[in-house]
Amino acid sequence: MSDTYIARPKPRPEEAFKDPAVNRDFIGRLVREFYRRVRSDARLGPIFAGEIKDNWEPHLEKMTDFWCAVILKDGSYHGRPVPAHLRLKTVVEADFDIWLGLFRQTVGDLCTPAVAAVFIERAERIAKSLKLAMFFRLPAALGPDAARARTRDDA
Ligand code: HEM
Repeated sequence: MSDTYIARPKPRPEEAFKDPAVNRDFIGRLVREFYRRVRSDARLGPIFAGEIKDNWEPHLEKMTDFWCAVILKDGSYHGRPVPAHLRLKTVVEADFDIWLGLFRQTVGDLCTPAVAAVFIERAERIAKSLKLAMFFRLPAALGPDAARARTRDDA
């Protein structure tokens, strides 16, 4: 066996974002301000109202857990976002642009530019994978290989 063998690098797990100003308390305030804006949005407001009704407090706590897990890597979220969104039959792909627009505005107003960039990058990445799960269909005419290639290019 030659000694020129090169090991394929393992993908490194994403590290926790470390900034003393970004803790659970801050993330909780960010989540609450974001969903305050979502609730007053003409398109997204009614979609959330239809699902969450008057039960906002558990959703806000769950979303705080989610963002703490995403940003601080503290393991506080154990849910499954994909099935929760697959059930939302009135949501269309363009709704994600509205969601991301409100998210960018909120973090832009509440965070420093460096912190905002981290939240936005993660939100965009997760939004992309939720959209793939919700709206991507195998193009039957091209066959599964073409579909796989498209998934890779889009990812
Ligand atoms: C148009 C865009 C979106 C809409 C309309 C939407 C709507 C909703 C609704 C109505 C729920 C509550 C579902 C339930 O309680 O059964 C929910 C849950 C959730 N959403 Fe979204 N969402 C959107 C985009 C996103 C994005 C981009 C993210 C992440 C960056 C996200 C993360 C989550 C998470 C983590 C949950 C909790 C799932 C669970 O564990 O039950 N959502 N969303």
